[in-house]
Amino acid sequence: GDVAVLVPAAGAGVRLGPGAPKALRPLAGEPLLVHAVRRIVAAPSVHTVVVAAPVTDVPFVRELLAPVAPVTVVPGGAQRQDSVAAALAAVPDGPGIILVHDAARALVPADLVESVAAAVRAGHDAVIPVLPVVDTVKEVSVDGTVEVVRGTVDRSVLRAVQTPQGFRRSVLAAAHAGAVDPLTDDAGLVEKQGVPVVCVPGSEYALKITRPFDLALAERLLAESP
Ligand code: C5P
Repeated sequence: GDVAVLVPAAGAGVRLGPGAPKALRPLAGEPLLVHAVRRIVAAPSVHTVVVAAPVTDVPFVRELLAPVAPVTVVPGGAQRQDSVAAALAAVPDGPGIILVHDAARALVPADLVESVAAAVRAGHDAVIPVLPVVDTVKEVSVDGTVEVVRGTVDRSVLRAVQTPQGFRRSVLAAAHAGAVDPLTDDAGLVEKQGVPVVCVPGSEYALKITRPFDLALAERLLAESP
Protein backbone atom coordinates (compact mmCIF):
# COMPACT_ATOMS: atom_id res chain seq x y z
CA GLY A 1 0.00 0.00 0.00
CA ASP A 2 1.11 3.57 -0.77
CA VAL A 3 -1.61 5.25 1.29
CA ALA A 4 -1.65 6.62 4.85
CA VAL A 5 -5.06 7.49 6.26
CA LEU A 6 -5.34 10.15 8.98
CA VAL A 7 -8.47 9.86 11.11
CA PRO A 8 -9.33 12.97 13.12
CA ALA A 9 -11.42 11.57 15.99
CA ALA A 10 -10.84 14.12 18.75
CA GLY A 11 -14.06 16.12 18.47
CA ALA A 12 -16.53 16.41 21.34
CA GLY A 13 -19.65 15.80 19.26
CA VAL A 14 -21.74 18.47 20.93
CA ARG A 15 -24.43 18.24 18.23
CA LEU A 16 -25.05 14.56 19.07
CA GLY A 17 -26.13 15.55 22.57
CA PRO A 18 -24.42 14.82 25.90
CA GLY A 19 -22.17 11.77 26.15
CA ALA A 20 -18.78 10.42 25.10
CA PRO A 21 -16.65 12.12 22.42
CA LYS A 22 -18.38 11.60 19.07
CA ALA A 23 -15.95 9.05 17.65
CA LEU A 24 -16.51 6.88 20.73
CA ARG A 25 -20.31 6.93 20.60
CA PRO A 26 -21.70 3.46 19.96
CA LEU A 27 -23.22 2.43 16.64
CA ALA A 28 -24.79 -1.03 16.98
CA GLY A 29 -22.69 -1.59 20.12
CA GLU A 30 -19.32 -0.49 18.76
CA PRO A 31 -17.76 2.98 18.69
CA LEU A 32 -18.05 4.93 15.42
CA LEU A 33 -14.24 4.97 15.26
CA VAL A 34 -14.06 1.16 15.25
CA HIS A 35 -16.49 0.99 12.32
CA ALA A 36 -14.53 3.65 10.43
CA VAL A 37 -11.12 2.04 10.96
CA ARG A 38 -12.41 -1.41 10.00
CA ARG A 39 -13.69 -0.04 6.69
CA ILE A 40 -10.53 1.94 6.01
CA VAL A 41 -8.22 -1.06 6.49
CA ALA A 42 -10.44 -3.12 4.19
CA ALA A 43 -9.12 -0.95 1.34
CA PRO A 44 -6.10 -2.77 -0.15
CA SER A 45 -4.06 0.42 -0.80
CA VAL A 46 -3.97 1.39 2.86
CA HIS A 47 -0.55 0.96 4.45
CA THR A 48 -0.78 3.12 7.58
CA VAL A 49 -3.59 4.48 9.75
CA VAL A 50 -3.04 7.31 12.24
CA VAL A 51 -5.89 8.26 14.58
CA ALA A 52 -6.03 11.57 16.46
CA ALA A 53 -7.93 10.79 19.67
CA PRO A 54 -9.25 13.02 22.44
CA VAL A 55 -6.23 13.76 24.66
CA THR A 56 -7.60 12.01 27.73
CA ASP A 57 -8.71 8.95 25.75
CA VAL A 58 -5.45 8.07 23.96
CA PRO A 59 -4.65 4.92 25.99
CA PHE A 60 -8.28 3.78 25.77
CA VAL A 61 -8.38 4.28 21.99
CA ARG A 62 -5.11 2.34 21.59
CA GLU A 63 -6.65 -0.62 23.42
CA LEU A 64 -9.91 -0.26 21.53
CA LEU A 65 -8.25 -0.40 18.10
CA ALA A 66 -5.51 -2.94 18.82
CA PRO A 67 -7.76 -5.92 17.94
CA VAL A 68 -9.13 -4.13 14.84
CA ALA A 69 -5.94 -3.16 12.99
CA PRO A 70 -2.38 -1.96 13.65
CA VAL A 71 -2.90 1.79 14.01
CA THR A 72 -0.95 4.67 15.51
CA VAL A 73 -2.90 6.78 18.00
CA VAL A 74 -1.83 10.35 18.77
CA PRO A 75 -3.45 13.06 20.91
CA GLY A 76 -5.66 15.39 18.88
CA GLY A 77 -5.88 19.17 19.16
CA ALA A 78 -8.35 21.93 19.92
CA GLN A 79 -9.53 22.28 16.31
CA ARG A 80 -10.02 19.57 13.70
CA GLN A 81 -7.13 21.07 11.76
CA ASP A 82 -4.80 20.67 14.77
CA SER A 83 -5.84 17.04 15.06
CA VAL A 84 -5.05 16.44 11.37
CA ALA A 85 -1.67 18.16 11.74
CA ALA A 86 -0.83 15.97 14.76
CA ALA A 87 -1.74 12.82 12.84
CA LEU A 88 0.21 13.96 9.76
CA ALA A 89 3.33 14.44 11.88
CA ALA A 90 3.13 10.77 12.94
CA VAL A 91 3.09 9.28 9.41
CA PRO A 92 6.27 7.28 8.77
CA ASP A 93 8.40 7.74 5.64
CA GLY A 94 6.95 5.81 2.75
CA PRO A 95 3.33 6.50 1.88
CA GLY A 96 3.14 9.10 -0.90
CA ILE A 97 -0.62 9.50 -0.71
CA ILE A 98 -2.38 10.85 2.37
CA LEU A 99 -6.11 10.51 2.94
CA VAL A 100 -7.92 12.37 5.70
CA HIS A 101 -11.10 10.70 6.90
CA ASP A 102 -13.49 11.86 9.63
CA ALA A 103 -14.26 9.15 12.20
CA ALA A 104 -17.81 10.49 12.11
CA ARG A 105 -18.21 9.02 8.58
CA ALA A 106 -18.22 5.56 10.12
CA LEU A 107 -19.90 3.71 7.24
CA VAL A 108 -17.48 4.81 4.53
CA PRO A 109 -17.23 2.05 1.91
CA ALA A 110 -13.72 0.69 1.32
CA ASP A 111 -14.39 1.29 -2.40
CA LEU A 112 -14.61 5.02 -1.78
CA VAL A 113 -11.25 4.97 0.01
CA GLU A 114 -9.82 3.19 -3.04
CA SER A 115 -11.38 5.52 -5.60
CA VAL A 116 -10.06 8.66 -3.87
CA ALA A 117 -6.58 7.11 -3.56
CA ALA A 118 -6.69 6.02 -7.21
CA ALA A 119 -7.46 9.55 -8.38
CA VAL A 120 -4.45 10.91 -6.46
CA ARG A 121 -2.30 8.10 -7.85
CA ALA A 122 -3.48 9.02 -11.35
CA GLY A 123 -1.88 12.44 -10.91
CA HIS A 124 -4.33 14.73 -9.13
CA ASP A 125 -2.74 16.57 -6.19
CA ALA A 126 -6.00 16.89 -4.25
CA VAL A 127 -9.19 14.85 -4.55
CA ILE A 128 -12.52 15.08 -2.71
CA PRO A 129 -15.64 12.87 -2.83
CA VAL A 130 -18.79 14.88 -3.49
CA LEU A 131 -22.53 14.46 -3.86
CA PRO A 132 -24.97 16.73 -5.66
CA VAL A 133 -27.01 19.07 -3.45
CA VAL A 134 -30.62 17.90 -3.51
CA ASP A 135 -32.24 20.69 -1.52
CA THR A 136 -32.81 24.21 -2.75
CA VAL A 137 -30.28 26.39 -0.92
CA LYS A 138 -30.92 29.96 0.23
CA GLU A 139 -28.53 32.56 1.49
CA VAL A 140 -29.96 34.25 4.60
CA SER A 141 -29.12 36.95 7.09
CA VAL A 142 -30.51 37.69 10.52
CA ASP A 143 -32.75 40.74 10.73
CA GLY A 144 -33.75 41.33 14.34
CA THR A 145 -35.35 38.06 15.45
CA VAL A 146 -35.97 36.48 12.04
CA GLU A 147 -33.83 35.05 9.27
CA VAL A 148 -34.50 36.77 5.98
CA VAL A 149 -33.68 35.33 2.56
CA ARG A 150 -31.06 37.30 0.65
CA GLY A 151 -30.99 35.10 -2.39
CA THR A 152 -31.26 31.66 -3.91
CA VAL A 153 -28.05 29.90 -4.80
CA ASP A 154 -27.82 27.95 -8.09
CA ARG A 155 -27.57 24.44 -6.67
CA SER A 156 -26.45 22.89 -9.95
CA VAL A 157 -22.97 24.29 -9.31
CA LEU A 158 -22.89 23.20 -5.66
CA ARG A 159 -21.56 19.94 -4.21
CA ALA A 160 -21.74 18.50 -0.69
CA VAL A 161 -18.26 17.40 0.32
CA GLN A 162 -17.37 14.20 2.14
CA THR A 163 -14.25 12.44 3.30
CA PRO A 164 -11.86 10.71 2.71
CA GLN A 165 -10.12 13.63 1.03
CA GLY A 166 -6.93 12.58 -0.72
CA PHE A 167 -3.66 14.43 -1.32
CA ARG A 168 -0.22 13.98 -2.65
CA ARG A 169 1.75 13.96 0.58
CA SER A 170 3.89 17.03 -0.14
CA VAL A 171 0.79 19.03 -1.07
CA LEU A 172 -1.00 18.32 2.22
CA ALA A 173 2.16 18.95 4.24
CA ALA A 174 2.67 22.33 2.54
CA ALA A 175 -0.99 23.28 3.06
CA HIS A 176 -0.81 22.53 6.78
CA ALA A 177 2.54 24.29 7.16
CA GLY A 178 1.05 27.40 5.55
CA ALA A 179 -2.33 27.26 7.32
CA VAL A 180 -3.48 30.46 8.98
CA ASP A 181 -7.25 30.35 9.59
CA PRO A 182 -8.81 27.08 10.70
CA LEU A 183 -11.04 25.48 8.07
CA THR A 184 -13.52 22.61 8.31
CA ASP A 185 -11.78 20.53 5.66
CA ASP A 186 -8.29 19.89 4.36
CA ALA A 187 -9.09 20.55 0.72
CA GLY A 188 -9.95 24.09 1.81
CA LEU A 189 -6.37 24.60 2.95
CA VAL A 190 -5.03 23.20 -0.31
CA GLU A 191 -7.35 25.45 -2.34
CA LYS A 192 -5.88 28.46 -0.55
CA GLN A 193 -2.47 27.41 -1.87
CA GLY A 194 -3.89 27.59 -5.39
CA VAL A 195 -3.76 23.83 -5.93
CA PRO A 196 -6.61 22.47 -8.10
CA VAL A 197 -8.95 20.14 -6.22
CA VAL A 198 -10.66 17.42 -8.26
CA CYS A 199 -14.02 15.82 -7.42
CA VAL A 200 -14.93 12.12 -7.57
CA PRO A 201 -18.38 10.66 -6.87
CA GLY A 202 -19.05 10.28 -3.13
CA SER A 203 -21.27 7.71 -1.42
CA GLU A 204 -24.49 8.10 0.55
CA TYR A 205 -23.03 5.63 3.04
CA ALA A 206 -20.23 8.08 3.84
CA LEU A 207 -22.73 10.38 5.58
CA LYS A 208 -21.36 12.33 8.52
CA ILE A 209 -22.93 11.17 11.75
CA THR A 210 -23.52 14.52 13.41
CA ARG A 211 -27.00 14.59 14.92
CA PRO A 212 -29.10 11.93 16.69
CA PHE A 213 -31.10 11.36 13.48
CA ASP A 214 -27.89 10.46 11.60
CA LEU A 215 -26.98 7.90 14.25
CA ALA A 216 -30.41 6.27 13.97
CA LEU A 217 -30.10 6.25 10.17
CA ALA A 218 -26.62 4.72 10.32
CA GLU A 219 -27.87 1.92 12.62
CA ARG A 220 -30.43 1.01 9.98
CA LEU A 221 -27.93 1.24 7.11
CA LEU A 222 -25.26 -0.86 8.83
CA ALA A 223 -26.59 -4.26 7.77
CA GLU A 224 -26.86 -3.38 4.07
CA SER A 225 -23.86 -1.07 3.78
CA PRO A 226 -21.09 -2.19 1.40
O1 C5P B 1 -17.12 18.59 14.34
P1 C5P B 1 -17.02 17.93 13.00
O2 C5P B 1 -18.19 17.07 12.71
O3 C5P B 1 -16.65 18.84 11.89
O4 C5P B 1 -15.78 16.92 13.17
C1 C5P B 1 -15.30 16.21 12.06
C2 C5P B 1 -14.26 15.22 12.53
O5 C5P B 1 -13.14 15.91 13.08
C3 C5P B 1 -14.76 14.26 13.62
O6 C5P B 1 -14.33 12.94 13.31
C4 C5P B 1 -14.13 14.80 14.88
O7 C5P B 1 -13.87 13.80 15.86
C5 C5P B 1 -12.83 15.39 14.35
N1 C5P B 1 -12.28 16.45 15.23
C6 C5P B 1 -10.99 16.32 15.75
N2 C5P B 1 -10.46 17.29 16.56
C7 C5P B 1 -11.18 18.37 16.91
C8 C5P B 1 -12.49 18.54 16.37
C9 C5P B 1 -13.02 17.57 15.52
O8 C5P B 1 -10.31 15.32 15.47
N3 C5P B 1 -10.66 19.26 17.74
